[in-house]
Amino acid sequence: MKHLIDIMELTVEEIDEMIAVAKDIIENPDDYAEKCKRKKLATLFFEPSTRTRLSFEAAMYELGGNVIGFSEAQSSSAAKGESVADTIRTVGAYADIIAMRHPKEGAPLVASRKTIVPIINAGDGGHNHPTQTLTDLLTISREKGRFDNLTIGLCGDLKFGRTVHSLISAMSRYENVKFVLISPDELKIPEYLKEEVLIRNNIEFIETADLEEAMPQLDVLYMTRVQRERFFNEQDYLRLKDSYILTPDKLENAKEDLSILHPLPRVNEISTAIDDDPRAVYFEQVLNGKYIRMALILKLLEVK
Ligand code: NCD
Repeated sequence: MKHLIDIMELTVEEIDEMIAVAKDIIENPDDYAEKCKRKKLATLFFEPSTRTRLSFEAAMYELGGNVIGFSEAQSSSAAKGESVADTIRTVGAYADIIAMRHPKEGAPLVASRKTIVPIINAGDGGHNHPTQTLTDLLTISREKGRFDNLTIGLCGDLKFGRTVHSLISAMSRYENVKFVLISPDELKIPEYLKEEVLIRNNIEFIETADLEEAMPQLDVLYMTRVQRERFFNEQDYLRLKDSYILTPDKLENAKEDLSILHPLPRVNEISTAIDDDPRAVYFEQVLNGKYIRMALILKLLEVK
């Protein structure tokens, strides 16, 4: 594998291997402290980010490497009208590996055709977010110890939420996984995902608007933010933004060993009163994002 544009480019075995490396890094960080000495990661963020960009940067520093890049399109030559293709050819001359986030779906794929340097899709519009999915998988693995036989509730903006799309694709490859897709009618998962991933592979799923009714059967609850920046009009956003707010009373019928994930940032979807509940693992998830990105950088740079 040269680039990571879509999570499905990784086999289940490759994901297992990366998770094993991430767990080894957690146990033995010193063994990895110089693995990427003299290597440079470029972070090209044409869209806002806190966790994805900073975890990539922290990951590279903890591997002994260096980081260059920009955190907004306005501070790059994109503001002067430069194409993604030209920006990538340029950065490819300076960096050994590139993590890129862009509002246009498919931009990282285009970029990957313009350089021999590995490109990582750090989120493309409302499409995909494979490294968040790796983060989610490491979290599920550490919390649940398995990917098979899980009922996973995904709640909120399933239409525009790119993390949801990549996670459903990735989880669809495991045995006896059932999805409960919880959203308002307007924010259901895209048709292509339903047809090409769920129906085609005979995967059990239900679509519902009722979080509380779904709660008792869930092993994992993946909450998401309503993606304001992808809406065509503000009115619709305002009407839908508070569709789901997870509060302690809503967890009354939840399993004792439920794991509550959220890619973050949260706006209003999870009450801060949940943060101290042992089932809330979204801040553990934040940390897992750094470790799995370390494993990914090592894999793409073919560092042993
Ligand atoms: C997500 C993203 O950018 O898609 N954030 C992240 O990378 N952790 C989720 C979101 O912005 O809602």
